[in-house]
Amino acid sequence: MTLPNHAGIFPEPITISEAVALLKKGDVVAIPTETVYGLAAKISDESVIRKIFTTKNRPFFDPLIVHVTSIAEAKKLTQLWPQGAQLLADAFWPGPLTLVLPKSPVVHDLITSGLDTVAIRWPRHPIAQEIIRALGEPVAAPSANKFGRTSPTSAKHVLDEFEGIVGVVDGGPCEVGIESTILKISETESQISVTVLRSGTITPEQIKSVLAPSQKTIEILKPGHNIEAPGQVKHHYMPAIPVLSIDQDLWEAWGKQFHQINSALHSNFKNPCFLKLSESPEQAARELYSQLRLCSSPPSDLIIFVKKHSHQGDHWLGIIDRLQRASTYHLVQTND
Ligand code: TXA
Ligand code: MG
Repeated sequence: MTLPNHAGIFPEPITISEAVALLKKGDVVAIPTETVYGLAAKISDESVIRKIFTTKNRPFFDPLIVHVTSIAEAKKLTQLWPQGAQLLADAFWPGPLTLVLPKSPVVHDLITSGLDTVAIRWPRHPIAQEIIRALGEPVAAPSANKFGRTSPTSAKHVLDEFEGIVGVVDGGPCEVGIESTILKISETESQISVTVLRSGTITPEQIKSVLAPSQKTIEILKPGHNIEAPGQVKHHYMPAIPVLSIDQDLWEAWGKQFHQINSALHSNFKNPCFLKLSESPEQAARELYSQLRLCSSPPSDLIIFVKKHSHQGDHWLGIIDRLQRASTYHLVQTND
C-alpha cells in the first residue's frame, strides 16, 4: 500500500483499493470524476464529513454534493422524485448534472448545511463509480481544492494543492473540465420549474428538450435572475495570482497595449500571461483550470482573459461564469 509515509504525506497517487480502504475506515480521499477531482468521504460518518470542510477550509454554510451510482440510490436520499428528475437523470446520468431535491432524513444536516434539500450526482468516470460501488454507500464530494481556489482536473493538481496530505487516485485529466450543471427542480401537476443554480456544460435548450415529453409547461430560470446556490460566492476558482477580465472591444480600443491596463488599474504588473482558450467551448472547458494554473507560475504576476464576442451563447455560460468569479479585476467597455 502507498499509504502515507511517517510525515503523513502521500508521496504519489494511491490505488483504487487503497482509496476504498481509507474511505471505509473514515478518511477523506480525492477521486477523479469527469468534471473535476472530488474530495470524497462516506456519507454515513459525520466526523469524516466534518473533515472534508476542515481539509478544504470550507465554511460549513456551503453544502456538499452526494455522489451515487444509480437512480435507485438517489431516490433513497430524497423525499420526492418528480417526473422532471426522472427525465433529466435518464438523459444525463451518469454525467455532469447535479439535481437538487427535497432531502430524506438519511442525509445528514452537515452535508446540506442545514437546508431541506440535497444535491445529488451520478458521475460518469469509471473510477469514481468503482470506488463508490466497492465502498457500498454514496460519497459526499466537493471539488478537491482549498476553498475559493481553482478546481483540480488532474491528480497532480490535487497533490500540489494539499501538498500530499490527501491521498488521490489518478484517473487522468478530467474529460469535461468544469463542475457539473446544478439544477433545482420543483414540479406541480402542470408545470416543471427548473432553476439553474450553477451553469456547467448542459444548456437550457438541452434541458427543455429532455423535459418536453412530460407534456407540462417548462419554466427554466437561468443564472442572472439573482439566483445563486448557497456557497456560490462571488469570488471563487481563484488561481495563485490575480485574473483580469477585459472586453475584446476595450482591449482593441487600447491598441492591445499592456501599459493601458496598468494605467486603468493604477497598478504595476510586469509579467502578464494571456489565457489561451480554445475556440471550441468543450475543449476550452476541458483545459480551463490547467491553463489557469499554468499561467500562474512565476514570473507571471497577472493573468489576462480577453472576453471575445465569440464567447457568447449557452455553451460558454459555464466557462464565463468561472472566469468572472476567478477575476479580481473586470474592465468593460462603457459608452460614455
Ligand atoms: O462537478 C461537480 O459538481 C464537482 C464534482 C466533484 O462532482 N463537485 C463540486 O462540488 O463542484 P462543490 O462543493 O465544489 O460545489 C457544490 C455546490 C455548492 O457550492 C453549492 O453551491 C451547491 O453545490 N449545493 C450543494 N447542495 C446544495 C443544495 N442543497 N441546494 C443548493 N445548492 C447546493
Ligand atoms: Mg468547488
